[in-house]
Amino acid sequence: ETEDFLAAFQRRMDAEEKIEPNDAMPEGYRRTLVRQIGQHAHSEIVGMLPEGNWITRAPSLKRKAALLAKVQDEGGHGLYLYSAAETLGVTREQMTEELLSGKAKYSSIFNYPTLSWADIGIIGWLVDGAAIMNQIPLCRCSYGPYARAMIRVCREESFHQRQGYELCLTLSRGTEAQKAMLQDALDRWWWPCLMMFGPHDGDSLHSDQSMAWKIKRFSNDDLRQKFIDATVPQGEYLGLTFPDPELKWNEEKGGYDHGPIDWEEFWRVVKGGGQMNRDRITARKKAWDEGAWVREAALVHAEKRRARQLA
Ligand code: 3HC
Repeated sequence: ETEDFLAAFQRRMDAEEKIEPNDAMPEGYRRTLVRQIGQHAHSEIVGMLPEGNWITRAPSLKRKAALLAKVQDEGGHGLYLYSAAETLGVTREQMTEELLSGKAKYSSIFNYPTLSWADIGIIGWLVDGAAIMNQIPLCRCSYGPYARAMIRVCREESFHQRQGYELCLTLSRGTEAQKAMLQDALDRWWWPCLMMFGPHDGDSLHSDQSMAWKIKRFSNDDLRQKFIDATVPQGEYLGLTFPDPELKWNEEKGGYDHGPIDWEEFWRVVKGGGQMNRDRITARKKAWDEGAWVREAALVHAEKRRARQLA
């Protein structure tokens, strides 16, 4: 790639132009998008597992219907995102192989167990809340197919977050045992949710380049701060205590100060040492193997239709 080509491409970025699949693009731009969109898709698909664990145990038909709808939505988000990644020349098989072999990442948050029903409310409220913070700016990503996929995803995420928060509100107005269950879930999920935004800006490998290419619009720390500032008052309204003694409003900064994030834990989980990493990949491998006959049948059916059309 010549300097002129890269400079011309950067001018398109600076002019806020959208890049479409057939446009000429730097190999690094394409590779960064394949990495991020592929891992985003993996996160959606693996993210179905922790919540799916509670569909058969939802406490009412209403809660079951909402949870079923949310888990199905996440599957759809995964399909949109795999399709967006495929426009960059990577195949579904390649991306799946990278997930199952551990070569590709997915969001560390999904390697924690869902131990109680309150976890389902906390996940909707906090995990989807964090995802919304991160995905709204992605609606303005410079790569057209990714930005367009995000618009539909964000609409559905809002429902995910609202139903989760309403579930938490119900528990917060329930028995002492229900309140304790909710507090226990917050204690287990708060810090892993802060880790969803990625390493501190100074330790972020890709942020500078992703910001220049208008893939990332805000830094990891900026989005994390926005999430904390929006979420703490919501938790206080529920009568919850955040598991961070250093969480305190800083008038001068106009935001909350918080305690240190345990990056040892973050990297241990990202590298496969979380409580549920093995279970998640085993479940995904089982689904991929057991679904082979569906893929084969669909391909044979498509072949027959093509042959009939040509006959
Ligand atoms: N879990 C796992 N890996 C993470 C991570 C996390 N929470 N945060 C960062 N990483 C990885 C990055 O992927 C990168 O590794 P790689 O080079 O092997 O890909 C490394 O840590 C360094 O981090 P960077 O900040 O340099 O990486 P990025 O610039 O890619 O920023 C990101 C990380 C903000 C997660 C960005 O990739 C992103 O915005 N991704 C798209 C959104 C996404 O994937 N969200 C995850 C959750 S999806 C979800 O929650 C679904 C909802 O419906 C519940």
